[in-house]
Amino acid sequence: MLNPDLLDRAVELLRRGGVIALPTETVYGLAANAEDELAVRRVFAIKGRPATHPLIVHIPGAEHLSQWARVIPDEAQALAKAFWPGPLTLVLPRTARATDAVTGGQDTVALRVPGHPVALEVLRRMGGGVAAPSANRFGRVSPTTAEHVQQDLGGDVDLVLDGGPSTVGVESTIVDLSSGAPAILRPGGLATEEVERVLGRAVPVRASTTVRVSGSLASHYAPRAGVVLAEPSEVGQRVEALRAQGLRVGVLGPVSLSLPGDVQRFDVPGEPAEAARVLYARLREADEQGHDVLVACLPLASGLGIAVRDRLSRAAAPRKE
Ligand code: TXA
Ligand code: MG
Repeated sequence: MLNPDLLDRAVELLRRGGVIALPTETVYGLAANAEDELAVRRVFAIKGRPATHPLIVHIPGAEHLSQWARVIPDEAQALAKAFWPGPLTLVLPRTARATDAVTGGQDTVALRVPGHPVALEVLRRMGGGVAAPSANRFGRVSPTTAEHVQQDLGGDVDLVLDGGPSTVGVESTIVDLSSGAPAILRPGGLATEEVERVLGRAVPVRASTTVRVSGSLASHYAPRAGVVLAEPSEVGQRVEALRAQGLRVGVLGPVSLSLPGDVQRFDVPGEPAEAARVLYARLREADEQGHDVLVACLPLASGLGIAVRDRLSRAAAPRKE
């Protein structure tokens, strides 16, 4: 836990309209008092994010749900009970407390209780809701350490709290319970299978929605280098073919992959939860080496492997810049 003076300073800054970087178990967040419209606007400005993309409101516990959500279906209560604090975000009909600035003018609000002791302590002391998108510039790789935040946004935030490396490593799973049957809007740090186990039914991933989920844009989470996806058995051929074109090629994949000795490998284990934990840090490291292309070995498509494959395919999608 951080020293109490720093925690006090963080809470004071939030109360006075400041913007701080906050560690969570998924990724670091760029945090502002959710009820302070000017502070929320500053979050959008720092990120360079379109104002129509709504933010997640972080709350200290499920007992705060009714302040923000007008309707709380039993299925929302069940998920909150099972997985909060943790990497789960619930989308529910909003109360007036969730302003247009936070929700992008929608009738719904995204809510989450983060499972990181520093974030929880800040939220408890503050006693309110904290709007926090991932603390990266729009479209770029999310930060999983305080150093990543410093590198990306250092000068623009009032305080960066260092809570160590994020243990989950990919953003929260977003479940829409605002109308009709539950659906997953973004696969993330809580496996779909876990959501389905608690709800006792299949929960589909709703790929295209009228709601703006930036993490679901085709190109997102993107490093500067190009990214090419490969199943484990295809990595070798892909590397050879790209090198034959004169490109500098790096590989994101497990140490068990056999590669030509002079190819730089960034260790992303085959086990999905381990892969999720280190993915963003390895993407950043690989990018710093100045490779033209990164060949990313895909983990199994189950558990957190779904989220890892999702983020890798968005990192690989062509960019419109
Ligand atoms: O793990 C996380 O969720 C991290 C940490 C910091 O908590 N936060 C995060 O925030 O990933 P952000 O803003 O990068 O992604 C939040 C996603 C966005 O894609 C946004 O569009 C979606 O949540 N979202 C927010 N409110 C929504 C709503 N009312 N309906 C549907 N999607 C919503
Ligand atoms: Mg983000």
